[in-house]
Amino acid sequence: MAELTLIVGHPGAGKTTRAKALAAATGAVRLTPDEWMVPLFGHPDPDGKRDVVEGRLIWTATAILRAGGSAILDFGFWGRDERAALAWLAASVGATAHTLHLPVDRVTQTERVARRQRETPELTWQLTQAELDEWRPLLQEPDADELAGRYTLPPPQEGWARWIARRWPTALDGAGREVTPGTRERD
Ligand SMILES: Nc1ncnc2c1ncn2[C@@H]1O[C@H](COP(=O)(O)OP(=O)(O)OP(=O)(O)O)[C@@H](O)[C@H]1O
Ligand SMILES: [Mg+2]
Repeated sequence: MAELTLIVGHPGAGKTTRAKALAAATGAVRLTPDEWMVPLFGHPDPDGKRDVVEGRLIWTATAILRAGGSAILDFGFWGRDERAALAWLAASVGATAHTLHLPVDRVTQTERVARRQRETPELTWQLTQAELDEWRPLLQEPDADELAGRYTLPPPQEGWARWIARRWPTALDGAGREVTPGTRERD
C-alpha cells in the first residue's frame, strides 16, 4: 500500500541516515530538502525559497503516492499541524501516512551535528549550540495516537488544502493555486 513517511526530529537527530536506510529497505522514494537547496542555491534557505522547494517535493511525493509508490519526506516536521495536514493529503490520494519520530538528547545531538559538519560540509551549514538550544522546545512531539497513525488534530477553518498552500506554496494543484508563491504570511 502507498505510504507517506514523515520524518520528525531535531537537526542532527539522524533523520537522513534513517530515511536512507528506510528507502533502501522498502523502495520508497526519499525526498530530503537539503539535497536540493544547497546544490541548487548554495544555501539552505535563500529568500524563503525553502518553502517553495519543499512544496514541490510534497507535490512529487503526492504523485508517487497516486502511482501506488511510497515516499519519505525527510523534512523534520516540528509542527503537529504540518504532519496532520500531510496525513490528510496522503489520505486524499488513497495513501496512508506514518510519523517516524527520532528523539535525540542534547549531548548526542551536539556530537552528531559536529560529525555531520565534518563528513558532508557541502550539504550542511554551521549551526551554533545557541540555535540548537533555542529550537529544541519548538518541536511538537508526536503523541501515541499520532505514532499509531491517528492524526486527531482537527482541520483549520479554511481546510487543510488552503493551509497547505499557504505553508508550502507549490505543494498543490487546484485547491491552492490561488495562493501566489512567496506571499505566505509568516507564522
Ligand atoms: N543512529 C545513529 N547512531 C550514531 N550516529 C548516527 C546515527 N544516526 C545518524 N548518525 C550520525 O549523525 C550525524 C547526523 O546524522 P543525519 O545527517 O542523518 O542527521 P539529520 O537529522 O538528517 O540532520 P539534519 O537535520 O542536520 O539534516 C551523521 O554524521 C550520521 O552519520
Ligand atoms: Mg538531514
